[in-house]
Amino acid sequence: MRSATRFLLMAWSCSVAVAGQSAHEAVADLAIGRKIFESQCAVCHGQGGTGGRGPSLTRATLAKAPDDAALRNLIKEGILPEMPGSWQLSVREIASVGAYVRSLGSVKPEALTGDAARGAAVYRAKGCAGCHILAGQGTGHGPELTAIGAKRNAAYLRASIRTPAESLPDDYLLVEVVANGGRRIRGVRANEDPFSLQLRDLAKGQFLTFRKTDLTDVRYLDQQSSMPAYPDKALSDTDLEDLVAYLAGRRGESK
Ligand code: HEC
Ligand code: HEC
Repeated sequence: MRSATRFLLMAWSCSVAVAGQSAHEAVADLAIGRKIFESQCAVCHGQGGTGGRGPSLTRATLAKAPDDAALRNLIKEGILPEMPGSWQLSVREIASVGAYVRSLGSVKPEALTGDAARGAAVYRAKGCAGCHILAGQGTGHGPELTAIGAKRNAAYLRASIRTPAESLPDDYLLVEVVANGGRRIRGVRANEDPFSLQLRDLAKGQFLTFRKTDLTDVRYLDQQSSMPAYPDKALSDTDLEDLVAYLAGRRGESK
């Protein structure tokens, strides 16, 4: 009997909370939204939403947030593994950031000067496909580029090519270990806990798991990339702009 009463009370308070939520949504506040955006989103999406490690949001339609409800949900849940969720924000704060993101839709998008068709030829000629998969073509251990244009802005793409070590994806850490028998292995860290270390082997792309007690040396190659840099001697400014225009247009689903 008591538990039935408690159940009824819970159901009642839930419906009150839901009614309260929609009341809050109605008062989404752009100024609050902008403040939250600048402190929590701009680190990846740029001040004013012009992009960076994350995509630019100055677009009238957002592929992953077709309507406002989807946008609020995306902000709350994040897009794992690259974008963290914002569980700490209240319903009203989420609605406010959402409103601010929508307001960016009328900002003029970034202009690209390169020729994407020429960029595709540069991509082939420079052997990028030896390390990257794009739309099912290519091999290697570099990140997949099929949807790279939906993830990064042009400035970030330029930096990734000219100076890869300065624009490493967040979770990218190159590690070199020496196993007990003296074998030296380099890989990208996939997982680590106090007792074990899992690496993605750069040569074969396989995952290798080590017990830390079996390793005689572990070196974290912070700020190093296994992607060669392409300075202007290796890639002219025109080639770079064409390549960036090509990559910016790659917006397919990655999996
Ligand atoms: C650590 C970096 C990071 C932070 C912080 C971050 N994002 Fe993102 N966001 C990304 C990346 C990367 C993507 C693209 C992910 C993908 O497509 O797989 C993305 C995608 C999005 C999209 C989808 C864009 C589209 O074209 O559909 C929206 C909207 C968005 N973020 C809004 C926000 C808001 C609002 C915040 C702050 C509350 C935020 N993000 C914080 C990295 C971040
Ligand atoms: C020897 C292998 C190798 C070659 C060749 C190579 N890359 Fe990479 N690339 C990587 C690796 C590894 C990363 C991830 C670590 C980093 O960013 O440095 C990467 C990262 C990137 C990124 C950033 C990806 C992201 O998610 O942020 C872009 C863009 C990129 N490469 C484009 C290119 C282009 C264009 C070429 C050809 C001009 C090229 N790469 C040639 C290995 C390679």
